[in-house]
Amino acid sequence: MEQNNLILFFMSYIFICHLIFFTLAPQAEARAFFVFGDSLVDNGNNNYLLTSARADSPPYGIDYPTHRATGRFSNGLNIPDIISERIGSEPTLPYLSPELSGERLLVGANFASAGIGILNDTGIQFVNIIRIFQQLQYFEQYQQRVSALIGEEQAERLVNEALFLITLGGNDFVNNYFLVPFSARSRQFALPDYVLYLISEYRKILLRLYELGGRRILVTGTGPIGCAPAELAQRSRNGECSPDLNQATDLFNPQLVQLLNNLNAQIGSQVYISANAFAMNMDFITDPQAYGFVTSKVACCGQGPYNGLGLCTPISNLCPNRDLYAFWDPFHPSERANRLIVERFMLGSTQYMNPMNLSTIMLLDSTTT
Ligand SMILES: *[C@@H]1O[C@H](CO)[C@@H](O)[C@H](O)[C@H]1NC(C)=O
Ligand SMILES: *[C@@H]1O[C@H](CO)[C@@H](O)[C@H](O)[C@H]1NC(C)=O
Repeated sequence: MEQNNLILFFMSYIFICHLIFFTLAPQAEARAFFVFGDSLVDNGNNNYLLTSARADSPPYGIDYPTHRATGRFSNGLNIPDIISERIGSEPTLPYLSPELSGERLLVGANFASAGIGILNDTGIQFVNIIRIFQQLQYFEQYQQRVSALIGEEQAERLVNEALFLITLGGNDFVNNYFLVPFSARSRQFALPDYVLYLISEYRKILLRLYELGGRRILVTGTGPIGCAPAELAQRSRNGECSPDLNQATDLFNPQLVQLLNNLNAQIGSQVYISANAFAMNMDFITDPQAYGFVTSKVACCGQGPYNGLGLCTPISNLCPNRDLYAFWDPFHPSERANRLIVERFMLGSTQYMNPMNLSTIMLLDSTTT
């Protein structure tokens, strides 16, 4: 009797260990992940281009596992990396990386490029960047490569079952409309009309992603761009967020949510999921101490007021503990801020994730396929 109980105990122990191993270990067939957009989600495509929009020298990457600059605009991991972590997947490789070949294609790919926007004329000062139409063309090329590897039918299935993330819009304001006083776009459009134009162009991009096979597409609105240290340094006298830029996001974000709702209704399925990046960031921007940050106004790496002027370079001021800063550089959150953001992607209420959060999506998709 004693011995039987002991055997039973060990058998269940082994069973539980297996269970833990199989639920925690990254699954070989974790769903693929595709990333499109700008510097907030670029994993290093710009390293391969002649452009000034790059993050491939120190102190970028100082807290990355390799402690090397990878092209991510972060001290460590960025938002797509942490999403990959949460779906049990390897981080997405930049599409231009020579390492992205063979079996590694099946993990997905990252097509994002720092500096780009919805419009082709956004970020022209960065010269050589992968504009969104080019990102979509690369995605078609990717699908041909995967088809050659696993067959057309399997490739289509991989794409249909994948998770997508697209982050666009911030640069259409900071690196276009508001880049210089009397910019071409600001002379052409009053702000509300510019936003209407952006939304109508974004609609085409989002529909194209659906045509190309996307069935679960996370779409982020713009964050509180007027509160970034770069804008505090240039547009704020007392440390208040820039009203001009926040007015732009106030116009843009609700119309984007409306667009996604309309597209879902038109398709008859919840393909597009809106992530309220504004609210996700505002939580720790309005009360940094509540989230363990010493400040949300001063960037860890930079120079000038709020460390918000110019770029983060080897000769910039650099804070000793990046976890205490909401902003890593004048525009981009620190890894710890990115973790707070992805936490809301995973578990957030409809205020953050509409119509549902990523943990709900993962549950739904695991039971329907
Ligand atoms: C942007 O460029 C692509 C081709 O590169 C073109 O198809 C698209 O219509 C352009 N968008 C606008 C708004 O001009
Ligand atoms: C989000 O995630 C939490 C925890 O998994 C869940 O309780 C909640 O209902 C979800 N909300 C939505 C809107 O999906």
